[in-house]
Parts: sequence; C-alpha cells; structure tokens
Amino acid sequence: MLAIRNISELVVTGPGPIGGRSMGQVSRIKNAAVLIDGESISWFGPEAELAAPPGCETIDAQGGCVVPGLIDCHTHTVFAATRENEFVQRIEGKSYAEIAEAGGGIKVSVESVRCADCEDLVEQALPRLKRMLHNGVTTVEIKSGYGLSVDDELKMLEAIRRLKDLQPIEIVATYLAAHTIPKEFNGRPDAYLDAVLDESVLSRIRDEGLAEFCDVFCEQTAFDLAQSRRVLTTCQRFDLKPRLHADQITQMGATVLAGEVGAVSADHLETIDDAGLAALKEAGTVGVILPACSFFLGVEQAPARRLLEADLAVAIATDYNPGSSMVESLPLTMTVACTQARMTPAEVLVASTANAAAVLARHERVGAIQVRMQADLVVLDVPNHERWMYEPGRNCVRTVLKKGQLVATNAH
Ligand code: NIG
Ligand code: FE
Repeated sequence: MLAIRNISELVVTGPGPIGGRSMGQVSRIKNAAVLIDGESISWFGPEAELAAPPGCETIDAQGGCVVPGLIDCHTHTVFAATRENEFVQRIEGKSYAEIAEAGGGIKVSVESVRCADCEDLVEQALPRLKRMLHNGVTTVEIKSGYGLSVDDELKMLEAIRRLKDLQPIEIVATYLAAHTIPKEFNGRPDAYLDAVLDESVLSRIRDEGLAEFCDVFCEQTAFDLAQSRRVLTTCQRFDLKPRLHADQITQMGATVLAGEVGAVSADHLETIDDAGLAALKEAGTVGVILPACSFFLGVEQAPARRLLEADLAVAIATDYNPGSSMVESLPLTMTVACTQARMTPAEVLVASTANAAAVLARHERVGAIQVRMQADLVVLDVPNHERWMYEPGRNCVRTVLKKGQLVATNAH
C-alpha cells in the first residue's frame, strides 16, 4: 500500500466521456490523501479521514495539487527529422497547405523515415517520450503515417510497439497509412489505398496487435471524402477503430463522415460547420481540438466554445509532429487551450484526462481519480490546477506515478 498525503487540492472528475456543458464542473477535495493498492486507487478523500494500514509507504505531496496522469490522445511522436525550414517559410508568408502543395510537408518526413531503420526511429522517439513523462503524460497515442508504403508503415508500427516495452508511458498505436498520397502514386490515390488496405496487411496489423485505431487525413492535399470513407470502413472490418483528421484547412464534410462511420473521434475541427457538429453529437464522437497546432501555424483556433456549448465531449492533444506542431508539451498546449481557445482550466483538465481517455477507449481504466481506476497520478508543485495552466513557462510537475509506481521526479 502507498499513501499520498499532504495534497492541497485533489481534482476529481467522473470518467469520460464528459459532455461540454459539464466539463467545467470538477470537484476539488482540499487537504486530501490518496491510498493506492498495487496498481489501483483504493481510497481518496480528506486526509483527516485517511486510515492508512500499518507498513503503508508514504509520498508527501508537500502541499501540491494532484491530478490524473495526462493523456495525449493525438501525436505523431515517431519521426526521423525536423522541418524548421518550413517554420521559416511560414513566417515569411507561405501557408501550411502551400508548402504541402509545393512538395514539402508530410512528404519530406516520409523521405527521412524511409531512410531510417526501426531502431533509429525507436532511439529518436525515446527521449521525446521521456520528456513527455516528466511533463505528466502517462498515456500517449502515436500514429504511423510517415512511411507511406506497406513496409515502411509496418516499420513505424513496429517501432511504436517496441517503444511500449522501453519506457513507462502506455502507448496506443494508430495506423495512418492514409496520411497523404506518396509520390510513387501521384494522381493514383486509389491504387495507393489498394496497397495499404490490402487484406494481408490489415489482417497482419490486427493479428499482431500492431494498431488499435485507424486514421485518415481528409483534406484537399490528401484524401477526399469517398477515399476517406473507404479507408475507415475497410479498416473497421479488421477491428481498427476509426478516427479522422477532419475539417482542418478545407471544409469537405469530414466531420459528417466521422458521424456516419461512428468514429471514436474527429480531430482538428478548425473549420467545422453546424452539420458536422450535429453529426458528432448524434454519433457520440469525441471532438479533439489541437490548440498547439493552430498556435504553431499561427492560424485560427477550432471553435472550442461552440463545441462545448453544444455539449459535445471535447478532448485536447498536442498533435506533436515536425510539421504543424513541434510541441511535445501537453501542459503548454493546455495553457494555449485556455488563452487562445478560451476554455477554462477545469474544462482543459477534463479534455486532457477523462475525455482523452475516452478517445483511446480507456476511460474505464484511466483519466480520472476514482476507486478501482489505475493509479496514474501527477503531483504538482503548485497548489491548484488553475495555477498550473497559469504558469506555462516552467514545468510544474513534481512527481509522476504510473500504475502506482513512481516513474518520474523533477527537482524544484
Ligand atoms: O495533424 N494534418 C495532418 N497531419 C499532421 C501534420 C503532419 C505533418 O505536417 O507532418 C497534423 O497536423
Ligand atoms: Fe495530426
């Protein structure tokens, strides 16, 4: 048994998914304690009521706030080279889409991933994951999508699989072969999809447990609506749960498609319209907004308040990738969600814990402080969760626990 004592504020929410109108209603227990039995939470409440058994170990939170481990539910953490030249081009006036149309963007990352072997990809991703852990992230989703050939996509999924055993963060894999059309298939998107959606490939991914989710970039520079539908419905037959990069730059009806196929999430949503919003609501699809991506590209945020007021369950994620969001910090993304997307700190906390867990179909096990849920917890060096998001310039995380084990500590 392990007790965390001397907690100034314990932030308690229900498990996800939580609708937008309720996301701001977190409860806080002041002067709290948590009791952990093995991998799970066995009790939490006011410290005055703590009945710690004899021999129970103790962590002193030193008057810090305790929150659930963060869940980054949309990342492209496995990549092989950076693209700072595009960052400069954007500052000089080119848009993300213009750079992609001129042969830059995702295709440049494909070149470098194809040259790397699986071990290189793993070695490069490990320090990124370590820094995420020290920022309080205990579960992360990682997509393929920079291989864009059957072998290179499988190589990425294999790298993601190996990363699971090499560090403490729980990793969830997504098959994003439909990220864009590779140059060999220029003008022949359906022929490309024939290859990456072949039955032998999808059954291997399913049988070897190489991915749980599939994803498609539905956009003018990538796949149209019919092709996106084909990707998602084909993958669904092989038990891959559908997600989409939807309504980022061009409004093409991608969120309506998300509803139609019963996607677990529709991500980006910068250009979502009323029909899309209604479709997500109706299907129970979580809306994932990526505030760091808009911040990094210097473009308009997704209409977070409109989504919340429609009572849609909203999650946030970093979208960490070398093109549109070189932001590995979920805490920084959370502050951007507050100041640029006008979400309250309580809404943002739910969006990056309980609702992010729902996106990854893990909401019964992680994302909230509840008895019998996994003891994935973060002890902060600040007395309340508002203060955490108010101070984006420093790492406020003191200690991270994964399944009841201490896995990261930062000096303060
Ligand atoms: O979510 N939009 C598509 N995919 C990524 C960007 C990938 C890249 O530019 O390398 C995103 O923003
Ligand atoms: Fe993305």
